[in-house]
Amino acid sequence: MLSARDDEGRPFSDDVIFGNLMGMLLAGEDTTAYALGWAVHQLCDSPESVMELRREADELLGTSDVAADIETANKLAFAGAVANETMRLRPVTPVVVILEAKVETVVGDLLVPEGTRVFVLVRPAACDPYHFAEPQAFRPRRWLGENAGAHDVSAHIPFGSGPRLCPGRSLALLEMKLLLSMLYRNFNVERVGGAEGVRENFAFTMSPVGLKVRLRRRSSALADTTTA
Ligand code: HEM
Repeated sequence: MLSARDDEGRPFSDDVIFGNLMGMLLAGEDTTAYALGWAVHQLCDSPESVMELRREADELLGTSDVAADIETANKLAFAGAVANETMRLRPVTPVVVILEAKVETVVGDLLVPEGTRVFVLVRPAACDPYHFAEPQAFRPRRWLGENAGAHDVSAHIPFGSGPRLCPGRSLALLEMKLLLSMLYRNFNVERVGGAEGVRENFAFTMSPVGLKVRLRRRSSALADTTTA
């Protein structure tokens, strides 16, 4: 932003840069962190997904703790599928509120007068069997083309839709792919307490409250298993 120029070649003012930075911090930090928390929660009950995530991370990260470059990060397809499947079941922004009908609009059999504020609930369509087969099942592979049944991506709008679509969505997905791969590449992640202790806490964003996990370095965890 500091080096960017507008169409007339002028730099952006401090106010504009400050506003954009605040927007990125407010809209981009908690959302991504909570989405990762939900992914860990879902993975605690899906050992087969953890194995696949780890196989992909082992293959692409090799002996490195982190992805070496953006090309490697872009290949983390299963990690991306975990991110999408998590956000389908546990949307961090379950209500998209920044919407208003610019003109009188008819949606199905509903008339929405001009100027009406619209609150969009993200989860009902994403968990409807008409759009996604076995909608309550956590199945990341459905995002990799393995769909026995319905798979309507237009019903999956964790980042909103239309002209105000989240501008940070690519960054958020990249962060989630990288972090999930690094976490499960380097650690065994084990739930402490039951899944029933985890609650959805809605305060504009939806965070997992009561999620507790124990991390063990994977090398020492493997050594423990060998010794046992
Ligand atoms: C998992 C992470 C994230 C989720 C679930 C998310 C979700 C959303 C949603 C639903 C909206 C409203 C879209 C609409 O009205 O149609 C939004 C807007 C926005 N997001 Fe994100 N977001 C995430 C990460 C980020 C990141 C990483 C950034 C920036 C670094 C960011 C920046 C913004 C901004 C600036 C807006 C307002 C856009 C506008 O008003 O035109 N978000 N986000």
